[in-house]
Amino acid sequence: MSTPANDGTQPRGIPTEGTPTEYDPTVPEVDTSEEHLAAIVTNEEILALPAEVSGFGAGNVGEVILDVKNLSKSFGSVHANKDITLQVRRGEIVALLGENGAGKSTLMNQIFGLITPDTGEVTIKGDKTPIKDPRDAISRGIGMVHQHFQLVPVMTVAENVMLGHETTKGGVLDLDTARQMVRELSEKHNLAVDPDADVEDLPVGTQQRVEIVKALSRKVDLLILDEPTAVLTPQETDELLGVMRDLANGGTSIVFITHKLREVLAVADHVYVLRHGAVVGEVTDIANTTTTDLATMMVGRSVVLNVEKDAATPGEVVLQIENLHVKDDRNLGAVNGFDLQVRAGEIVGVAGVEGNGQRELVEALAGMRKVVSGTMRLGDLDLTKANPYQTHHAGVGHIPEDREKHGLVGAYSIADNLVLNEYDQEPFAKSGVRQFDKIRAYAEKLREEFDIRSSGVGQSAGSLSGGNKQKVVVARELTFGPKLLMAAQPTRGVDVGSIEFIHKRIVAARDGGAGVLLVSAELDEILSLADRIAVVHGGQVVKEMPAEGADRAEIGRLMAGDH
Ligand SMILES: Nc1ncnc2c1ncn2[C@@H]1O[C@H](COP(=O)(O)OP(=O)(O)OP(=O)(O)O)[C@@H](O)[C@H]1O
Ligand SMILES: [Mg+2]
Repeated sequence: MSTPANDGTQPRGIPTEGTPTEYDPTVPEVDTSEEHLAAIVTNEEILALPAEVSGFGAGNVGEVILDVKNLSKSFGSVHANKDITLQVRRGEIVALLGENGAGKSTLMNQIFGLITPDTGEVTIKGDKTPIKDPRDAISRGIGMVHQHFQLVPVMTVAENVMLGHETTKGGVLDLDTARQMVRELSEKHNLAVDPDADVEDLPVGTQQRVEIVKALSRKVDLLILDEPTAVLTPQETDELLGVMRDLANGGTSIVFITHKLREVLAVADHVYVLRHGAVVGEVTDIANTTTTDLATMMVGRSVVLNVEKDAATPGEVVLQIENLHVKDDRNLGAVNGFDLQVRAGEIVGVAGVEGNGQRELVEALAGMRKVVSGTMRLGDLDLTKANPYQTHHAGVGHIPEDREKHGLVGAYSIADNLVLNEYDQEPFAKSGVRQFDKIRAYAEKLREEFDIRSSGVGQSAGSLSGGNKQKVVVARELTFGPKLLMAAQPTRGVDVGSIEFIHKRIVAARDGGAGVLLVSAELDEILSLADRIAVVHGGQVVKEMPAEGADRAEIGRLMAGDH
């Protein structure tokens, strides 16, 4: 078998160069004069005023900070935003809900000056002047944490914060000031961020907090958080929701985008629902709203939030992992003597707090990370030393945790991404010549089946909405008929309607005889989808149990290392 060069960091099959960035990476220029820095914490000053002057107080959200009227935006034939009208008031948390591709990020990117609206009016604190660019948005008190992190991994936290302030005419923000700023903001908002840590060493939850510190390091009245919880563990999420509540109580307005309806009910004061680019609903009475109500508004039909499936009928062993040892990026033991079997026709859920070796385990199984010792077998085949290409062709499907890095080639079309591992095989190529009609027909079929919202299969994967990118990866990995499907966070960033669909497809793969290894940070997902649960801690399986009748509290204790 010929094996293309692959250092393990690229999607399997095709060696690639560079991936495009979705957003304009221009570093915004901001004012770092002393007066400006001194004025960063203006919300406290507002709060110090009597309520009748500030217009802000308990149960009394303040004046309108953001006023959007009749805003529309198209990309070619895609009407991403249609005649949108909404308002955000001071001290209010506004949740923006909608299916993948509904237009949430597009709307917020316009408020942040990354994209210019086609028509409509955006008023910020009474000022109707159109927002020119992110620098302008920042100077007018808007901060945004994007759906995809924008931090520079090789720099420290303070250096990253400094970067956003660097190009100022009034002088460069020096490192000591940046460090102090990080320390103060971290303490004030209970964000637990170390200014001197290297960003690449930080877990995603902490990186998310660094993004927030970075946004808050400028004067922020309106903070936009685009799916900040998608990559967080439940614990980290609860912490972040607490931080958001504190910020709002301090007078900051927040626009919060999420697909997790529980979070909306926990923290939002006001909800807008988008569908196909338009506002289709608004909720202000959160206390009397249920997740089912929200799901129905989003999708336009009722959604089954619980997975319906028959009992599994496990067959022969497809995956056999024995005494596996794998190291992490820092060369420390991450998987430490891992034993597990997955049979054909069953879903085994790996439950554990993130950082207990799950990522390294999946990467090793996918051929992306070296195994130190132990074995992994797929049926009769020893995969311990296989590379990603060999692993795939042996019949292992892999929905990777990080779709941007390992799942997609952003510059390639949806169609090319759908045949990424098979591009040189029949029927997609014949005698070395690619069969474009076949590729297109196959891609059209999957686009339809998986509801990949796009202008066509020729659209670049990089320009898809976050959840639709995920659907491309899921469609590819489920459709080639894997013997073993490894699904790592398969519904991350995916809307409720699509979660239902992906779950059904995973169950269908199981019923078709595939063994499924499900790794998810959502215990709910594991409990509802898995047939058997393996609880991991410290890189080992500490207990296996049937999912039926599994005790959530016991799993929680085992995950925390109490065993
Ligand atoms: N630069 C672009 N070029 C072409 N189409 C685009 C571009 N940016 C966004 N779109 C399209 O606009 C629509 C709205 O996308 P957007 O990213 O706003 O969705 P979203 O609501 O944020 O979805 P998700 O929940 O998946 O993040 C999608 O159909 C998307 O493909
Ligand atoms: Mg989005």
